[in-house]
Amino acid sequence: MKGVILAAGKGSRLYPVTHVTPKPLLPIANRPTLHYAFEKLIEMGVTEICIVVGENETVMKEALGDGSAHGVQLSYVRQTAPNGLAHAVGFAKDFVAGDSFVLYLGDAMYSEGFTAHAKKFLESGAANLNIVQPVPDPSRFGVANVDGDRIVKLVEKPKEPESNLAMAGLYFFGPQLWEILPDLKPSARGEYEITDAIQMLVDRGDTVLAGVYDGAWFDTGTLDSFLETSAFLIGGESRLEGTVHGKVGADVVIGEGATVTCESIEDSVVLPGAVVTVAGHIRHALLGGPVNSSGNVENVILHGDYHG
Ligand code: DAU
Repeated sequence: MKGVILAAGKGSRLYPVTHVTPKPLLPIANRPTLHYAFEKLIEMGVTEICIVVGENETVMKEALGDGSAHGVQLSYVRQTAPNGLAHAVGFAKDFVAGDSFVLYLGDAMYSEGFTAHAKKFLESGAANLNIVQPVPDPSRFGVANVDGDRIVKLVEKPKEPESNLAMAGLYFFGPQLWEILPDLKPSARGEYEITDAIQMLVDRGDTVLAGVYDGAWFDTGTLDSFLETSAFLIGGESRLEGTVHGKVGADVVIGEGATVTCESIEDSVVLPGAVVTVAGHIRHALLGGPVNSSGNVENVILHGDYHG
C-alpha cells in the first residue's frame, strides 16, 4: 500500500505565520506537523509516500527532501490550484499506479495508529474505508450515515447532519477511485469534494466501509486547534528548546534557538529561531520571526513586528 498526503492548502487560517512557514511544516510540540503523519504511515507499513503540494512546493521540498531522514521515500506532485480534496488526490494517480493507498490530510493529527483499520481494509476487498469519529459538531465536517460498518450516505458539511459521525481525514482507497473521478462535478462551494467522490462509489454499489477511530483526533488548521494539539502532545507540561527570560506556565512550546523575553508566557507556541520581546504577558499565541510588543500578547498569531 502507498501513501498520499494532501498538503497543498494555503493555511490561510494561520496567516501570517503560514506566509513564511507552510502549515505542514509548522512544528507542533517541536516537531513539524508532517513528521507525525510519517510516523503513522510507517506504523502501517507505508513508506512510499507522495505529497501533494501547491505554492509551498519549493520550501516543502527543501525541508523534507527525499524523505530518507524520516525513514520514508518521498515524491511530490503539484496541484495547480486548491480546488478541493478530490482534485488534489487526482494529481497522485500516476504515483499510486493501480495500487491501494492511504489518503492522509496534511493538517490532521492523531494520537493512535491505524494498523487494524489498514488490515481490515486490505482483507475486506472494499473499494474504500473511511476513518470516522462521533463528534458534537458534525456540520463542520463530511458526515457519514452507516448501516453496520457500511457507509450508505455521505454529505460534506451538512447544515442539518443526519448522523454524528464525522469523516476524520484518513481514507483507504482501492483503484476504483480513479474510475469515478473524471465524472465528479464541483460542489456548491466550487470544490471537488472527496466526500462526493466516495458517494459516487456508494451509488454504483461498491463496498464503502467506515472504521470508527477511538483515539484523539485534531485538525490543526486554526490557532485554537493548533495550540490544543500542542498542549495535548506535551501533556500539560512545557517544552523549552530555546531560551526564555520570564515566568513559564503550562502548555508552552519554545522552538529550538528561539529567544523569548517577557513577564510570563503560557498556552503558547514560539517557532524555532524566533526572537520575541514582549514587555508584558504572552498568552494563547503562536509566534514566529521577530516579534516586539510594548504590552501584552494574547490570542494572536504573530510573525513580524507588532506594537501592542
Ligand atoms: O478534517 C476532516 C475534514 O477534512 C473532513 O471531515 C471533510 O469531509 C473534508 O472535506 C476536509 O474538510 P476541510 O474543510 O477541513 O478540508 P481543508 O480545506 O482544511 O483541507 C484539508 C487538507 O487538504 C489540508 O491539509 C490542505 C489540503 N488541501 C485542501 C484543499 C482544499 C489540498 O491539498 N488541496 C486542496 O485543494
